[in-house]
Amino acid sequence: MKLGMVGCGRMGKSLAIGAIEAGAVEAKNFLAHDVRPEAVEELTAESGIQAATNLNQLVTSCDVLLLCTKPDDAHEVLREVASSGTDENSLLIISIAAGLTVRTIEQYVLNHARVIRAMPNTPALVGKGAAAYTLGTAATPADGEIAEKLLGSVGSVVQVKEKLMDVVTGLSGSGPGYVYLFIEALADGGVRNGLPREQALQLATQTVLGAASMVQASGLHPAVLKDMVTSPGGTTIAGLSTLESEGFRSACIQAVTAATERSKELGKG
Ligand SMILES: NC(=O)c1ccc[n+]([C@@H]2O[C@H](COP(=O)([O-])OP(=O)(O)OC[C@H]3O[C@@H](n4cnc5c(N)ncnc54)[C@H](OP(=O)(O)O)[C@@H]3O)[C@@H](O)[C@H]2O)c1
Repeated sequence: MKLGMVGCGRMGKSLAIGAIEAGAVEAKNFLAHDVRPEAVEELTAESGIQAATNLNQLVTSCDVLLLCTKPDDAHEVLREVASSGTDENSLLIISIAAGLTVRTIEQYVLNHARVIRAMPNTPALVGKGAAAYTLGTAATPADGEIAEKLLGSVGSVVQVKEKLMDVVTGLSGSGPGYVYLFIEALADGGVRNGLPREQALQLATQTVLGAASMVQASGLHPAVLKDMVTSPGGTTIAGLSTLESEGFRSACIQAVTAATERSKELGKG
């Protein structure tokens, strides 16, 4: 498989390096292009990926094109794909451009390329991403496996119907922001009660990381794990009952709902 990537910014770079490190693709079979030559140079120096001469060379010499520009810049790339003379549907495009629908992408490239729309999140930068993808009209289950392999190299990945991509944006796309706020708030609680700031932040961060790892490693429902650490009349139930009376659970649900609605609005342009 020959892989091409257009847009070597933060997200593209982490996907590319993750895919190579995970063995999903060999650097010698990976071409990259960016309007900023320094972005390509940085990536090639770090990963052994080859630099494409231009966008046309990239498009015509790869089997899979990772579209990693900003959504507004993607239109120009898609026009190039449409005019590049690629054989019918011989190219698979995996777009990570937020809000760019399968329909919009296919308006440019239908009959030239198969399309997958994906939504990664920023922890992909440290190999701990959570991504979702949806298949375009001409994409095959084998294309889905390629997307799973690439996105899975920087975290976990699920396949969803396209109408759920806004929910994905509201949950895992925006979720890191919610969790940063939670970590900061936990640390503030520690400081409020006398812990030095640095230690409070270290303890809060590790607590969130550790609890998330427990959910993943045990396979148990979070409610079961919560019950296991909640002794009668103890400290944890005192904290939990305060979170419930202050509306923590409801605030989380409403945050995901608000972000989902906002994603829908933005998608309408
Ligand atoms: N970062 C995130 O949290 C995140 C999460 C989910 C999805 N995404 C999606 O991932 C995509 C990339 O995000 P990012 O944060 O990595 O953006 P970024 O750092 O701005 O990277 C995009 C790169 O593409 C270059 N570019 C622009 N037009 C181009 C063209 N026609 N041909 C080749 N290269 C071109 C840009 O150059 P210039 O800087 O000169 O324009 C830039 O180097 C976006 O569509 C975003 O919606 C990002």
